[in-house]
This record gives sequence, C-alpha cells and structure tokens, in this order.
Amino acid sequence: MSVTTLSAQRPITAQDGCQDPVLLNDWHVVGYSSDFASDKIHPVRLLERDLIVWRSANGDIHVWEDLCIHRGARLSRGWIKNDRVVCPYHGWEYDGGGRCTLMPAAPDETPMKKARAFPYQAVERYGFVWVCLGEPTADIPVFPQWDDPSFLKVHSGPYMYSANGFRSIENFIDASHFPFVHAGLNGVMDNPDRLEPYDVHEVDTGLCSSEIKVFQPWGDARGIPLMAFYTYHTFRPLVAYFSKRTQQADKSGNIVSDKSDIFATFFVCQPVDEKTTIARVCAAMNVNPHPDPKVVRDRADVVFNQDREIVESQRPERIPTELRYELHHRTDLMGQRYRSWLRAKGITYGVI
Ligand code: FES
Ligand SMILES: [Fe+2]
Repeated sequence: MSVTTLSAQRPITAQDGCQDPVLLNDWHVVGYSSDFASDKIHPVRLLERDLIVWRSANGDIHVWEDLCIHRGARLSRGWIKNDRVVCPYHGWEYDGGGRCTLMPAAPDETPMKKARAFPYQAVERYGFVWVCLGEPTADIPVFPQWDDPSFLKVHSGPYMYSANGFRSIENFIDASHFPFVHAGLNGVMDNPDRLEPYDVHEVDTGLCSSEIKVFQPWGDARGIPLMAFYTYHTFRPLVAYFSKRTQQADKSGNIVSDKSDIFATFFVCQPVDEKTTIARVCAAMNVNPHPDPKVVRDRADVVFNQDREIVESQRPERIPTELRYELHHRTDLMGQRYRSWLRAKGITYGVI
C-alpha cells in the first residue's frame, strides 16, 4: 500500500469532466493490482479525466494526471526509464515523488520547483487500485471476508458497461430480476420468486437490507439448487456488496440441509463518464471444498454480461434519483432507498 503526496497545484485539466465534490472526494477503483506491471505506463480514465497508473521498481503504485506541465503532452505516450516517467515530447523525467529530475535540453540545470507531475492519492486494497481525485472524506470500505482465510477469493471482470455507474450498482442490489435476466442460474422464469417484505436500514457503513429469500437452480459454482438469502449493502455510491447465505435445496425449492454457506460479492464501478462504467468483482466463499476459481469466474462472466445487456438498455441513461420519474414497488425497496441515499448525499453527476 502506498499513498502518494498530493501536488499543491491543480492541473489545468481539472476543469474537465466531473465537478461533483461527492464523487471527486471519494475513492474509485481504476484497475486490478495485477494490471499494472512496473515497466509500463498505463492510461486510465475516471470521471472524464485522463490519468496514468505506473508502478515504481519498489512496488509503489502511482496515479497521476495524464499531463506534462511543460507543454501539456500526454505522459501516457511516454515510457519508463530508470524508474522515472519520461515525457515523450521533450524528454523531461519525473521520479516517483512526481518531481522533474531532468530537462534534457538543459541537463546541468536543476529543474524549477513547479516542474512536477500531478499525483493523486492511490492505494491498493483487495487486489484493486483505488484513487481519489480530491480529498477523501471516508476510508475505502471494508470487505468483511477479505482477511478470513476460510474464504476463497476470486476476482472477475472487468465488465465494460456502456451504462451509468449508479444504474449498474442498482442492478447489483436488485433481487427481482433474477428469474428473467439470469433464468436457469439465479432464478426460474416459469416460477419467479415471490419476494417477502424486507427492510433497509441506514447504518454507519451505508445502506443495508435484511435477508431476501430466493430460489436458485444453479446458485453458485457447485451447480446445485440452493435457497439463497441475500443481504445487500451499498458502502459507497459506486461500491456495493452482498452476502448470500445459502442452504442446499431440491429442484422444487425445498430446503434439504440445515447447514448454511456464505457467498459474498464485492462490486465496484469505475465511472469513466456519466454513461460508461467498468465493473469489477471480487467474490468470497466458504463452501468446502473450495470450488475451482475458473468455474467461479466463468459463471460470473455469464451473470455480469447478462446484467450488462439489460443495464445498457435502460433509459434515461442517467439514473433518476427523484423517485417520481420511475415507478417503485415495495419489492424494489433497496433500489429505491439507494436512489434517495444518492440524492441526500447531493450527488449531481450521472443523475437526473
Ligand atoms: S511537454 Fe513534456 S517535456 Fe515538454
Ligand atoms: Fe443480475
């Protein structure tokens, strides 16, 4: 884990894209830790801002504006040399602290104080790289099972959604679409679940539902019928989670085992812009024996691509947080409360 020091200056490109302080002062995932090799500069886009991610030889991760202060060239077109970022235009070199250490046209001069890159706070956690473009108002949410060795962790994605991040999160916390969007896996189209009333509470860590019971003919990588009890959680506007307690069932949905297992999913959305999202997933499960991670990943690919297709079809693309624009039923309570929660936070970007 590394936290880079914030540059005192703001790049001129800070005027571009999202100006919503709630989102600018939050942590966002921009990739998996494993995406970023130490010998390359990786361009990423977040809230309509172009950034670079690179890793020092000592393993520290850096996220900077994709901008050279000299003449505004993109550092992502440059390269790494001797653990420094080299700008492709006039070859200025920047060290891991963002300081310019060499101007090749004047190699004997110490570069001016202002000759700096524009770094952001960056942290690696749960196998993801997180960045904050402003001043974080809260820590990165806790993934409850991450440190528990009895849980197998499996990352999947990235899933590129041509869709709004909040619509993508709302889909993740929606229990009544399973029989239709995930027929044969998470529900049965000819026999959809009747959802019993459930509660949603605001807690210190966000919004949390009580258990929601659904039958799943192929509920996880074991490929067996399960009765599943979902507890949904929105930790941050673009970070959600569920913990699913499962009991084995027969094909007709009768529970046949007293034993419960837990399958949890941590779901993060990178808002590229108001209508483009990169979704990433880390699942944690304690079924014994642990399933083959490839089977878990393959199943996640099917499920999240089914979700992607439906979320990409929704109109308007930006989520209406004013409830009167769409129709809310008691079975949608989690999504309804999520929208009101976004509205109460004062979010203005990606919403109508
Ligand atoms: S624009 Fe980067 S060195 Fe000139
Ligand atoms: Fe889904």
